[in-house]
Amino acid sequence: MMEQKLRQLLDQSCVVGGEVRCFDVLDSTNTYLKELALNGAPNGLAVLAEQQTAGRGRMDRRFQSPKGMGLYLSVLLRPELPPERLLPVTALAGVAVCGAVERLCGERPGLKWPNDPVLHGRKLAGILTELTVDGDGKLALVLGIGINVRQGREDFSPDVAEIATSLRMEGLAVSREALAAALLRELDKMYRALLAGELDPWREAYRQDCVNLGRPVQLLYPGGRKQAVALDIDEEFGLVVRLEDGEVTVVRSGEVSVRGLYGYVE
Ligand code: BTN
Repeated sequence: MMEQKLRQLLDQSCVVGGEVRCFDVLDSTNTYLKELALNGAPNGLAVLAEQQTAGRGRMDRRFQSPKGMGLYLSVLLRPELPPERLLPVTALAGVAVCGAVERLCGERPGLKWPNDPVLHGRKLAGILTELTVDGDGKLALVLGIGINVRQGREDFSPDVAEIATSLRMEGLAVSREALAAALLRELDKMYRALLAGELDPWREAYRQDCVNLGRPVQLLYPGGRKQAVALDIDEEFGLVVRLEDGEVTVVRSGEVSVRGLYGYVE
């Protein structure tokens, strides 16, 4: 990542990305930023790496992060809000990713509930939000986002190649610096909306982006699975589903996973 090029593209008025630090190699931008958070790093700090040697996904999975191919970015947020108001952050970050890609590429990805950006039915990006407590006992959020930008099929391991895609593979050419700048700008808007409690437009965008609605989904519980149809998104960004017996219920991220259309499993 060319740090100078990125800096030129940044909007100085933004809190998110108000300070950026770029590295050639990190184990994981999330792991590194959590350490910085403990040592008093500023609100909005963004950390980027050209390559991650131990990029992490949800559920203890790896996030493949080959050198120079993807955008690997984490931002530190210190919202002074009660914890329950932080719950939608990962969903909102999904909308921010869709917005940044649309702005630059002219094509908007969808979201596989709760927050996997997908393009043409394949996984384009991943989001990992981690909560940490800093030295003063205050909550801090580390929001990690990886977007596949320049990978070809050969850059993914065979199992991941079945389900993943990159912007380039979908015919969308974009510089990682421009994408990083656009993403930081969208995340800044998102952060302001979160603080102000003005989430209605974001909820509506989430509803529009969610590719599961109106479709069959499998709900994966620790002990088994249930068939359902996804109906809607509720006030708290939960997924409203109708089970086979007709019961309508809401699933919240973290409680169950959804196996959607695309054959990949959370
Ligand atoms: C997932 O798809 O399960 C989430 C993947 C999140 C990957 C990003 S890349 C930047 C940041 N650092 C990490 O180690 N993970 C996140």
